[in-house]
Amino acid sequence: MDWGMENRMARMFSPVSHNTVMLAVDHGYFMGPTHRLEDARSTIAPLLPHADALALTRGILRRCVPPQTDTPIVLRVSGGATVLKEDLSDEKITTSMREASRLNVCAVAMSVFVGAPHEHESLVHLGELVSEGEEAGIPVMAITAVGKELEKRDARYLALACRVSAELGAHLVKTYFCEDFSKVVEGCPVPLVVAGGPKLDSDRAALELARRAIDEGAHGIDMGRNIWQSDHPVAMLRALRAIVHEKATVREALDVLEGEKGRPTPAAAA
Ligand code: R5P
Repeated sequence: MDWGMENRMARMFSPVSHNTVMLAVDHGYFMGPTHRLEDARSTIAPLLPHADALALTRGILRRCVPPQTDTPIVLRVSGGATVLKEDLSDEKITTSMREASRLNVCAVAMSVFVGAPHEHESLVHLGELVSEGEEAGIPVMAITAVGKELEKRDARYLALACRVSAELGAHLVKTYFCEDFSKVVEGCPVPLVVAGGPKLDSDRAALELARRAIDEGAHGIDMGRNIWQSDHPVAMLRALRAIVHEKATVREALDVLEGEKGRPTPAAAA
């Protein structure tokens, strides 16, 4: 791996745990003003210091994140469909590698839609994006199965989608946790991070998901709704960090959550 590429990867993953806690706030690119992400700037500000990376689009990056931040940026560069359309897979590359480089990002991310009507285009776009990423020294994260594709959340489907993404050169893959997740990990030679999906019934359920994912070989999380739709987003993010980086059990992470709940966030304290 070239120095630039390796440096960017190293900035996102802890040298100690080899894992990462990415905060996903890119939902608006196809879902619009998602609940509790309507005012993205306010949602992001208190969470930013606790995230190993921030995943979002160029619009929200430019408008809602101070350029002084040293949190690595994972830039979503695909889009073109919304939840109003039947077929979410009709995406193209919407932000160039040149612009990603100008924005000084640590990685770019795009969705692949394995098994969907635009499977072919999304996979070819991934191959092309990887070629550009190799040239620029910018890692590419493939995102498997968003929206309706999530209905296929099983190990057989996700193992296929993750492996295909790695074969096409993705440097890391974001996918979803499922039963037999270790089979997805086994077949994928690049680091996997897991998304949380729609808000679960409780914070505990999200912590359990993270614990199981790490135990079965995930190299971290790229989670959104289960953090910022929680009533205690900063505490939740810190509890997840304990799981991902400090081998905390769910019980220990719940203690972190409870302990952090009463603490004022820097924004609230200011
Ligand atoms: C899809 O909207 C994006 O790729 C999200 O970043 C991804 O689904 C992670 O967010 P969440 O944990 O809310 O599913």
